Amino acid sequence: MGKIGLFFATDTGNTRKIAKLIKKKHFDDGVVDICNFEKATPEMISEYSALIIGTPTLGDGEYPEALEGFLPSLADIDFSGKTIALFGLGDQQEYAHEFVDALGMFYEEIEDSGAEFIGFWSTDGYEYTSSKADMGDGKFCGLVLDQDNQSSLSEERLATWIAEVKPALLAAAGADSAVA
Ligand SMILES: Cc1cc2nc3c(=O)[nH]c(=O)nc-3n(C[C@H](O)[C@H](O)[C@H](O)COP(=O)(O)O)c2cc1C
Repeated sequence: MGKIGLFFATDTGNTRKIAKLIKKKHFDDGVVDICNFEKATPEMISEYSALIIGTPTLGDGEYPEALEGFLPSLADIDFSGKTIALFGLGDQQEYAHEFVDALGMFYEEIEDSGAEFIGFWSTDGYEYTSSKADMGDGKFCGLVLDQDNQSSLSEERLATWIAEVKPALLAAAGADSAVA
């Protein structure tokens, strides 16, 4: 069985916490490899056919430093055929005008890369004025968690989302070992 690569960026640790929860609570031991974008290389990401990628939004609708620094390296990765589930953290009250923008910006960077994106997530239950992650059809381009205002909803949102994306991620990861 191939593995799922979970790459994340974080400033204050919330996204790391969610990444660890995904690995420990929602998948069997040894299925998910976790890596901070601070240490990631294009070669590492290229190894996985199944990816989960998570980022908070910082500044005023900006990328966290580690992900911003990694953007030029995206060109060195062949995403075609990969299955990717995205998640983003943000604060819909303090940053209602740029809620989880980095999630949307990152999706835009790679949406035409030939990867298959899964895990689009309903915008129901969030209040914000503007979000680059909002695709305009009632969905965000990935799971959205708000640890600042709705932390009590996060575990359930995460569990629902994982149940949705898990079969496709495992299938994509399994295809790795079939080829190898
Ligand atoms: C300085 C600062 C700027 C932020 N800017 C935004 C923003 O523009 N949009 C947003 O949705 N959330 C914003 N947030 C909220 C964070 O995305 C949120 O707290 C998230 O959980 C942080 O994740 P992390 O601990 O992994 O860095 C900001 C938080 C801080 C501290």
